[in-house]
Amino acid sequence: MNLSIELIHENALKELDTVADAEGIKELYVRFLGRKGLITQFLRNISSLPEAQRPQAGKKANQTKKALDKAFKAALKKIEAGSADSGNRIDVSLPGRTAPRGSLHPITRITQRVCDIFLHLGFDIAEGPETETDYYNFEALNVPKFHPARDMQDTFYVSDNIVLRTQTSPMQIRVMEKQPPPVAIIAPGKVYRCDSDLTHTPMFHQVEGLLVDQNVSFGDLKGTLTAFVHQMFDDKISLRFRPSFFPFTEPSAEVDILCVMCRGKGCRVCSHSGWLEILGAGMVHPNVFGSVGYDTSRYTGFAFGMGIERIAMLKYGIDDIRKFFDNDLRFLRQF
Ligand code: DAH
Repeated sequence: MNLSIELIHENALKELDTVADAEGIKELYVRFLGRKGLITQFLRNISSLPEAQRPQAGKKANQTKKALDKAFKAALKKIEAGSADSGNRIDVSLPGRTAPRGSLHPITRITQRVCDIFLHLGFDIAEGPETETDYYNFEALNVPKFHPARDMQDTFYVSDNIVLRTQTSPMQIRVMEKQPPPVAIIAPGKVYRCDSDLTHTPMFHQVEGLLVDQNVSFGDLKGTLTAFVHQMFDDKISLRFRPSFFPFTEPSAEVDILCVMCRGKGCRVCSHSGWLEILGAGMVHPNVFGSVGYDTSRYTGFAFGMGIERIAMLKYGIDDIRKFFDNDLRFLRQF
């Protein structure tokens, strides 16, 4: 008899342990302490015990009843407190956890900006392969085999006939092969040269431009590039067109802008010249039109090409091109 009231007590506490809500506790109340509950039944049965055992059994049963009542109440209180407690509730007034936010890579930003400016000037965007045939990268651009101009670009050869494009200029040929004039495109993309130092990386980005129509003059080239530079940097910055040489243009020019750091006074960035070279350009060479079958007696055109990293370095005042490719978040987060 003693054992069984103890067993009831023990079982009740064991079950209480597995109960997680108020509903469950109320059910335990009914089963153990209710009018038809186990303890009540036990108390009723006491009269059938030998007289000598009755006081002791009654006392034990009443103690158990009290102890369980106390344990159930405490558990119920804990559950009710828990559900009102911040641990189980969402505090909508707490500031949210901010998700780390990415940003565009500076090279992407500058590429998009350059494209935007030319899109507004009426140019379309053309894209093409980074592995090129010798023909598109050189031959069709008036750079025959063994031409000394090939030495200007340290080419990565995939095979005798296939190269990683050293410039975006082959896009001129690809576009003109597909469509008759008029043409007005820019072609952004990656290019590759076997070169690496403070201002050169083996992979970098260029944007090529090409405009072909009747009566296109060097004046149109100057006007277009001036509009571009004024929007890209600022509308007061001076430009100069310096005679130069590229095999695919004649005449050719390199375009300098007044040094954005010293405004022409001369500093380390502009090698004390006061000017910064930002792109190459010129009037499309008749041999290039010949490669694509354009009628050189009807059409003229201009072309230009610029390095994106170079523009980005000048625009953001960055002195080492390799920073763009280190993936150092402390650097990238600034953009
Ligand atoms: N492709 C030349 C380079 O990589 C840049 C260039 C110069 C492109 C003159 C042109 C151009 O279209 O007309 O250095």
